[in-house]
Amino acid sequence: MKFDVLATAIASLSLATAAPAPEPGFGHGYGGHKQNLKYPGLDVLAKRAGLLYFGTAIDNVVLNDTRYTSIAFNRSEFGQVTPANGQKWMYIEPERNVFNYTMANEIVIPSKKAGQIRRCHNFIWHNQLPDWLTSKNYTKAELTSILENHIKHEATYFKNDCYAWDVVNEALNDDGTWRQDIWSNTFGGPEYIALAFKFARKYVSRNTRLYYNDYNIETVNNKSLAVVAMVKDFQKRGVPIDGVGLQAHFTVGRSPTYDQVSASIAQFNKLGLETALTELDVRVALPDTPAQQADQAKIYADSVKACVDARDCVGVTVWDFWDPVSWVPSTFPGNGDADLLDANFTRKPAYYAVSDILRDD
Ligand SMILES: *[C@@H]1O[C@H](CO)[C@@H](O)[C@H](O)[C@H]1NC(C)=O
Ligand SMILES: *[C@@H]1O[C@H](CO)[C@@H](O)[C@H](O)[C@H]1NC(C)=O
Ligand SMILES: *[C@@H]1O[C@H](CO)[C@@H](O)[C@H](O)[C@H]1NC(C)=O
Ligand SMILES: *[C@@H]1O[C@H](CO)[C@@H](O)[C@H](O)[C@H]1NC(C)=O
Ligand SMILES: *[C@@H]1O[C@H](CO)[C@@H](O)[C@H](O)[C@H]1NC(C)=O
Ligand SMILES: *[C@@H]1O[C@H](CO)[C@@H](O)[C@H](O)[C@H]1NC(C)=O
Repeated sequence: MKFDVLATAIASLSLATAAPAPEPGFGHGYGGHKQNLKYPGLDVLAKRAGLLYFGTAIDNVVLNDTRYTSIAFNRSEFGQVTPANGQKWMYIEPERNVFNYTMANEIVIPSKKAGQIRRCHNFIWHNQLPDWLTSKNYTKAELTSILENHIKHEATYFKNDCYAWDVVNEALNDDGTWRQDIWSNTFGGPEYIALAFKFARKYVSRNTRLYYNDYNIETVNNKSLAVVAMVKDFQKRGVPIDGVGLQAHFTVGRSPTYDQVSASIAQFNKLGLETALTELDVRVALPDTPAQQADQAKIYADSVKACVDARDCVGVTVWDFWDPVSWVPSTFPGNGDADLLDANFTRKPAYYAVSDILRDD
């Protein structure tokens, strides 16, 4: 096991309630069906492969569907959950200094009950900000105090709930330059990122990992090299950072290879940081075909294998597991079917490919 130390740290954090009884259908029960032994759940297999978890993002819109929640909060399937939206700024602090944890709690509370851990997401992003923040030009001093106040409240509220926090999300452009947004514009550059990590370290639990999270950094390219440079600069200056999250939103026909993903993960592990695939999904151009599903399965499996084989990649999170709630169709019209289960909750080839690569037999 690569992560005994982490597992101990997590136990001491009491992120989960006392270990629940084994899931029915795993190891015993159900008359020892071959199916259950071979496919006991993604998290069960991920832990056997040496990962800390296999996780999923969960959105609030389908929490009324018990077919969905019985899988989402099944810790044999998902040992870790990430609130897809509920912890973002617009929901957490909709008015200045007024905090609302309702949406986040709809996911955090049942996941604690289920014995799952959480990646918390996120403190700072350029998107999904409340109007009070975007409709006015604050000074650097005001924005610094707004930033600290936000992190202080949210980090304190979820103090013992988060294995990791995505402290800053998507601060870079694909060419490796800093994104222009209210943060970089007001601060005159990326210094708000270092500040955010310092504030996060001050208020989160001592054991919570602090991550930088971004997309298109799953190969060695100008963007991932910019993250490497940022980490080196932080380490030189004593700015706390523990991990880099590679989102891994992939597309059939133009996704990075196993070698490319491995090489990108390695550049962060080499700096002493842990990594994770934090938002894995693989979209296809609709209409979907069996050939595309086969390609999709291979991309899922190769990505998961790159994490398993890396020196310090702690786990994989899929950005939801059920096609009808994927973010893809609304963001990339004409694309979809990016997840592991189809509209009927039937496991797609990708589900079996991920299980098989984790089982490695
Ligand atoms: C949880 O998931 C595992 C793996 O798919 C399954 O065997 C088990 O029956 C599920 N448990 C419940 C309570 O649905
Ligand atoms: C859950 O609520 C949404 C709308 O909020 C609705 O479209 C959907 O049919 C509901 N699902 C179930 C299973 O009740
Ligand atoms: C908090 O958020 C929930 C979910 O969006 C909403 O229903 C509720 O009205 C909010 N509470 C307050 C006090 O605004
Ligand atoms: C904020 O400043 C920018 C650039 O100086 C300006 O274009 C914009 O109108 C200002 N916004 C507000 C709400 O004052
Ligand atoms: C970085 O960008 C430059 C020019 O924009 C390009 O020539 C170079 O190949 C890129 N480097 C990598 C590693 O992609
Ligand atoms: C779900 O099941 C229905 C009824 O059997 C079928 O018509 C439909 O094509 C299925 N959907 C998918 C995505 O397989």
